[in-house]
Amino acid sequence: MSCQHCCGANLQFDIDNANSDLKRYLKKGPKKMTKMLVDALKDENIENLSLLDIGGGIGPIPLELIPEGLQKVTDVDASQGYITVAKSEIDKRNHLNIVNFLHGDFVTISPDITHHDIVTLDKVICCYPHVDELLKTSLSKATKYYGLVYPQAHILSRIAVWALNLKLKLKKNPFRTFIHDPKFVHQTIRNAGFQKIYSNKTLLSWQVHLYKKEG
Ligand SMILES: C[S@@+](CC[C@H](N)C(=O)[O-])C[C@H]1O[C@@H](n2cnc3c(N)ncnc32)[C@H](O)[C@@H]1O
Repeated sequence: MSCQHCCGANLQFDIDNANSDLKRYLKKGPKKMTKMLVDALKDENIENLSLLDIGGGIGPIPLELIPEGLQKVTDVDASQGYITVAKSEIDKRNHLNIVNFLHGDFVTISPDITHHDIVTLDKVICCYPHVDELLKTSLSKATKYYGLVYPQAHILSRIAVWALNLKLKLKKNPFRTFIHDPKFVHQTIRNAGFQKIYSNKTLLSWQVHLYKKEG
């Protein structure tokens, strides 16, 4: 990860934001787009499968899916603050024995990460400038399912991302967000041998997809 992305992610996703995200999650449950992906995975038989959640944040996906019988979880995040908060919540629920937390840029540390049955990136590729690298590296770790939540590429999202990036620039935070081309994203996943089994959208912002390995 470039220093710009790394330092920016730590600033943008700091421990105060992590604590407030966890508070919101404990009160209201997963956000709508996350719930769509979680419910799509619950409709598959995921008992005894392993999950690699990249950019897991405070960990809504593992928190929702561990009770479904996941056997092992790896949670990778570029923000130390989010890892700290996610780990403490997993500990409270006595799941530390099955969850491994890794801090760092997934692409950089990926050689140390093994294959998992399920790989998820929930609102993460929009944080990353080199989407092809992030997609290909994460796809190479998925043996059965690949779940993705990322921004819709319409004019309103583009304006929102432009405004957020301007705000970050004014605050001298080097972190930036991106709208990636959905056709490119879909084709990259297809080329890795996955077919789409679920697709949904929130009203304005997000698209949610679950892919399954062919064959
Ligand atoms: C918008 S948050 C989403 C968090 C969580 N997936 C959720 O939906 O609640 C993006 C997360 O991805 C992490 N992230 C961004 N780029 C990353 C990278 N290259 N490797 C690992 N984590 C990354 C950030 O630190 C942050 O926690």
